[in-house]
Amino acid sequence: MAYGRIKDILATEPCEQQIEVRGWLRTRRDARDFSFLEINDGSCLANLQVLAPASLENFRKTIQQLHTGCSLRAAGTLKKSPAKGQAVELHAATIELYGEADPDTYPLQKKRHSFEFLRTMGHLRPRTNSLGAVARIRSSLSHAVHRFFSSRDFILVHTPIITTIDCEGAGEMFRVTAPRPAAEGLAGSGADFFGRPASLTVSGQLQAEVYALALGRVYTFGPTFRAENSNTSRHLAEFWMVEPEMAFCDLADAMNLAESLLQHLIRHLLANDREDLDLFARYIDKTLPKRLEQVLAAPFARMRYTEAVALLEKSGKKFEFPVGWGTDLQAEHERYLSEEICARPVFITDYPKDIKPFYMRLNDDRKTVAAFDLLLPGIGEIIGGSQREERYDVLRARMEELHLSLEDYSWYLDLRKFGTAPHSGFGLGFERFIQFSTGMTNIREVIPFPRTPGSALY
Ligand code: 4AD
Ligand code: MG
Repeated sequence: MAYGRIKDILATEPCEQQIEVRGWLRTRRDARDFSFLEINDGSCLANLQVLAPASLENFRKTIQQLHTGCSLRAAGTLKKSPAKGQAVELHAATIELYGEADPDTYPLQKKRHSFEFLRTMGHLRPRTNSLGAVARIRSSLSHAVHRFFSSRDFILVHTPIITTIDCEGAGEMFRVTAPRPAAEGLAGSGADFFGRPASLTVSGQLQAEVYALALGRVYTFGPTFRAENSNTSRHLAEFWMVEPEMAFCDLADAMNLAESLLQHLIRHLLANDREDLDLFARYIDKTLPKRLEQVLAAPFARMRYTEAVALLEKSGKKFEFPVGWGTDLQAEHERYLSEEICARPVFITDYPKDIKPFYMRLNDDRKTVAAFDLLLPGIGEIIGGSQREERYDVLRARMEELHLSLEDYSWYLDLRKFGTAPHSGFGLGFERFIQFSTGMTNIREVIPFPRTPGSALY
């Protein structure tokens, strides 16, 4: 007998074939002569309906133990279902219980629990419809990211998690340390493991630049860490970033790549993850289909920071944070620009140099840098990127101005001394993109185990 995943079983034409499924019980309904069991195995959103006749061997004893959350095996004949809303059902000849779930103590009894409650149940919440759907979409998008870059001949580089540099220069890093093992020629135990301060990376960009300036087109996709005290629905202390880096590319090339990447990912979702997307469109965010459509319908808008600030100033809208040339855009400004002014994704370019990191290329006006942020309706900033400063003297002067250690970054300056080239790249916040793709309002729901100030369960 074939053991099947429910996703495949639901897509088969029923012709009395013998099948077997294994999964977790969502609900049980008893009639006089049989019980209906709704089984979910995680392969898709839908459950398989199993009809278990009361005449089954041992069934009267087993059925008393079949409660929501238990794990079980059901085997029998796949038949066309007379009921509405499902094409097939399984007429069981055998039901076997693997593991019970005591109805008095199993926490997921209700059909809908609040996301706040589920957050305290990180070990059980993937068994709910919405969190299961998020997990499938996250996996689907990860594969799509790799396929996108692989089909364009980008080389995947695994940049380090532990690093001795602060890419963004914002000082928001988690220290990593351990006693240094005593060894011949090394200082005694107790000294720091790496012999210098080390931290968890905030971005793989600077190391990706090393490889871009050797291999041409590279990308890295991994976890990044920020010790920023931002307790918002858009910030995590541990999040994942997709970071391409390209030699011989300017700012416009990087923006074109970002636009293609986003459109590719949305098209991939619409083609492969309809069932899960429909759940989000129905129960989480009614505007989801429209927002996804906006990504595909027209080229993204492009606007300079200076123009964006002018539009915000004359919008007449009361913002919580004031806008003015030279200040960073806040989430409320970003959303106003993408939702109200542009009604689609918008690239804001050429930000004042003083609100951006040291590595961005200085424009001819000497006041702004060749940077871009991509803002999405409903989310705000989803990507940050730039052309990198490839001119040795300009970069060095900027680093001195910011009191960065020329010694620590000597290798980074070397890249500008030996075979320097124009190059550009960006970082896509993966969780924010999953929020955009599902409509989930809190970023803590789109990563399996969220880490935020004051909270790191598991
Ligand atoms: O704008 P950021 O800080 O850019 C960089 O780190 C560059 N070095 C990337 C590059 O050019 N290779 O971060 C990039 C994106 C943001 O646009 C946002 O989507 C996401 O990462 N991000 C966060 N997501 C969740 N929680 C946080 N604390 C985040 N901080 C940034
Ligand atoms: Mg940014």
